[in-house]
Amino acid sequence: MIMDNKILKISEDVSWIGVLDPALRVFDIIMTTEHGTTYNSYFINAEKKTVVETVKEPFFDTYEAKLRQVCNPEDIEYIIVSHTEPDHAGALRRMLSIAPRATVLGSSVALQNLKYQIGFTFPCRVIKEGEMIDLGNKHLKVINAPNLHWPDTIYTYLQEDQLLFTCDSFGAHFCHEAMFDDLTGNYDEAFQYYFDVILKPFSTFFLKAIDKISSLNIRAICPGHGPVLRAHWQDIVSKTKTLCEQYLSGHPVKNRVLVAFVSAYGYTRAIAEKIREGLEDIEGIEVDFCDLEKTPATEYEEKVARASAFILGSPTINQNMLPQLYQLLATLSPLRDKGKPAGCFGSYGWSGEAEQILATNIQNQKLNYCGESMFIRFRPQEIDYERIKAYGKKIGLMLQ
Ligand SMILES: Cc1cc2nc3c(=O)[nH]c(=O)nc-3n(C[C@H](O)[C@H](O)[C@H](O)COP(=O)(O)O)c2cc1C
Ligand SMILES: [Fe+2]
Ligand SMILES: [Fe+2]
Repeated sequence: MIMDNKILKISEDVSWIGVLDPALRVFDIIMTTEHGTTYNSYFINAEKKTVVETVKEPFFDTYEAKLRQVCNPEDIEYIIVSHTEPDHAGALRRMLSIAPRATVLGSSVALQNLKYQIGFTFPCRVIKEGEMIDLGNKHLKVINAPNLHWPDTIYTYLQEDQLLFTCDSFGAHFCHEAMFDDLTGNYDEAFQYYFDVILKPFSTFFLKAIDKISSLNIRAICPGHGPVLRAHWQDIVSKTKTLCEQYLSGHPVKNRVLVAFVSAYGYTRAIAEKIREGLEDIEGIEVDFCDLEKTPATEYEEKVARASAFILGSPTINQNMLPQLYQLLATLSPLRDKGKPAGCFGSYGWSGEAEQILATNIQNQKLNYCGESMFIRFRPQEIDYERIKAYGKKIGLMLQ
């Protein structure tokens, strides 16, 4: 059991006052966290006392005890909200009740979000790109970092101490009470997993943010989760840059069509095979032919990311499409995949509900639905082959 009353000095006037959550095993429903996590908050002991980020609400009591070790909360002048996801901003509501003089500073989107999270009015001010927040004897520079990973995200840079606060960027779900990257041991795997799940889809934005911070003199990077990077921040930034570039160059492979389906008795598969033949009539088209029942769900995301068009197939079973299709659709990223050509197909016995469900889901995901589907009662017959092939070809041609 880790006793969580630790405060760590990052510089003469800046302390880590975050909390440890070593027991966490699932984050945001979507991520496993075998090493737990930390919710990092930082106290800046400037003339105007400032807190960067709070913590997840259930940890407020532990957090408050730490805060009271470094200051009287009534003296806090500013609370910086780097983004409004409740793992960091959740405790803000209670924080405001013990810090009545504090003004909350965040991007305009962040303050809009907070209005709906907090539920009562509180002192706040929008801070903008390039602005210097005057803390009396110190200055915090505002760096917009939108979509990393929420639209409201900002970084802040404490000039005098050369510390960069980066919200979720450069963080990891990795709980170690030593908290400094030179003391925690290697956590590459946790770092990579955090990047893959949380930040990778926003690689374009990440590269822009990395570019913006490249001219700063940095002593340490202070992320929202996991170790404070005082020893290896350069390695982490350059590794992140490489990962973003790799991701962007690897996807989508131009003209790669994902034909993904499930099939209980092989009828939907037979339609899929004819669709593939139709696609292969077009020069330069690459087909990723994927039986989802035989594909581990962990591979769905990579397949989706690399596709430039989707043709999805499901039989109707119990008036529905199959869960593998729901799962695959859930890995689409609106930002990345919006507008990619798409169609759907399948075999059915009598009522054929999968057709409507699949077509509607494709349109809800803002893919560019080709306008028609290819559903066939039971077994596709020879007489159907040409129009099935034509259907595949039609979607393939949307890429040209
Ligand atoms: C358990 C089960 C439930 C089914 N429920 C439906 C249904 O609700 N509506 C329908 O149109 N067909 C239904 N069917 C029929 C299948 O859609 C049909 O057999 C189809 O050809 C299967 O295609 P596949 O070989 O690609 O799996 C059901 C079949 C099974 C095995
Ligand atoms: Fe977040
Ligand atoms: Fe977070």
